Amino acid sequence: MSLPKDFLWGGATAAHQFEGGYLEDGKGLCSGDVVTSGDGRNGIQRRVTYTLPDGEYGSQFVFPYQDLPQDTKLSCHEDEFYPTHEASDFYHHYKEDIALMAEMGFKCYRMSINWARILPHGDDEIPNEKGLEFYDRVFDECLKYHIEPVVTLLHFETPVSLINRYGAWIDRRCVDAFVKYCEFVMKRYQHKVKYWMTFNEINNMEILPLYAGGLLKNDDQSKATATYHQFIASAKVVKMAHEINPEMKVGMMIAYTAAYALTCHPRDELKLMKDNQIRHFYCDVQCRGHYPQYKLKEYQRNGIHLPVLEGDQQILKEGTVDYIGLSYYSSSCVSDDEKQETTSGNMTTSIINPYLKTSEWGWLVDPVGLRIALNQLYERYELPLFIVENGLGAIDHMENGQIHDTYRIEYLKEHIYEMKKAIEEDGVDLMGYTPWGCIDVISAGTGEMRKRYGFVYVDKDDSGNGTMKRYKKDSFYWYQKVIQSNGEEI
Ligand code: BG6
Repeated sequence: MSLPKDFLWGGATAAHQFEGGYLEDGKGLCSGDVVTSGDGRNGIQRRVTYTLPDGEYGSQFVFPYQDLPQDTKLSCHEDEFYPTHEASDFYHHYKEDIALMAEMGFKCYRMSINWARILPHGDDEIPNEKGLEFYDRVFDECLKYHIEPVVTLLHFETPVSLINRYGAWIDRRCVDAFVKYCEFVMKRYQHKVKYWMTFNEINNMEILPLYAGGLLKNDDQSKATATYHQFIASAKVVKMAHEINPEMKVGMMIAYTAAYALTCHPRDELKLMKDNQIRHFYCDVQCRGHYPQYKLKEYQRNGIHLPVLEGDQQILKEGTVDYIGLSYYSSSCVSDDEKQETTSGNMTTSIINPYLKTSEWGWLVDPVGLRIALNQLYERYELPLFIVENGLGAIDHMENGQIHDTYRIEYLKEHIYEMKKAIEEDGVDLMGYTPWGCIDVISAGTGEMRKRYGFVYVDKDDSGNGTMKRYKKDSFYWYQKVIQSNGEEI
């Protein structure tokens, strides 16, 4: 058995973490632009910066998040450093970067369109032609090398203007604005882009409501409302995409993890069941087209009301997704015993699993968990899956222009091995595999540059110093062989 011939090997990035050019050619500010750097290994969290009605400037942690003061307007402040403003400067290096992807043999490139580059205020009547032209150039460059663009429509990049005027996704006007933005880009790029995803890691609304929904609040009602609006927006966009061009496929995207109970005590198992419900809820609605009973009951118990309008049920039903995109970095472990020691994970925490090692940032490394995760999702929804993020964030050392990242190769090798088992032995329908940050990007969680995932090293440090020169790591050549052999040689 071998992998399908059309398996989409590639890599992934997000606009705000990779592009830079944060105000170039008419782009507006997005939520990722108003977050400072942090230091993940020393526990210094990233902060969102804002201005108060009296002109005073303030800032607050994005994780853990708390309600921002009343009438706050998100803004940048001259004394702060915002790592995404320049990021890896793909805006000016896209030709070189896509050539490197082509050299590795990429079949696809997952990237996001930055909404505020197209509509600087999020809901402008006329799109910014210069922004549209930039993505035209990027897609043309990809297609030149037969690289299929895979586009996320919103990857932690809600326009700041919508946040400051409406509170973003808490307001139904954000749904209309998003659908309009998607209509502009889908009509424009329909012959260049076939694969789309609506919201990156939509389940991050639970813990990172600023990133996922541009929310200035962290209460359960606000998060439920914003999530509801994203579901409606996603369903409308799926339907619209099929009308614009039936060839286009639109997926959802979730941060997924295999979760284990720490013991076989029924209370730990119950905890696991609840934990899985939190995760599956987002897929349940987007794949099945309606809210699951366990969620409705929970809302009822907690006095949460959904802002349902007439016709919404039909919208959800008619807009179920074509595939599920998932990020998988680590598994997690749960226990009913709240005193258990925890470690960090992808925007979350987990109880320490005694059987697993952790990365330098404390994330549990679990390749077998990837096979379990793929099986869980495929059995439950019977939809094609797409691993659109996976990888090891690690510190790289450059010696004479070389980076010997054996640890990264090891991590990816083990994950690809389990991914192949899921396809070949378990029959999971997997569209492709795009490791995260294929060319080094700014970390979303910590804002660091030294937390690198790439096959290509970008010469830049955490304070923004460096030449921006690109260097091929050992993993670059290794991944090239993996793709060349369609996964036979790992
Ligand atoms: C996912 C996000 O959460 O994980 C990416 O979709 C992010 O934006 C990636 O960069 C890795 O997380 P981090 O915190 O190491 O950048």
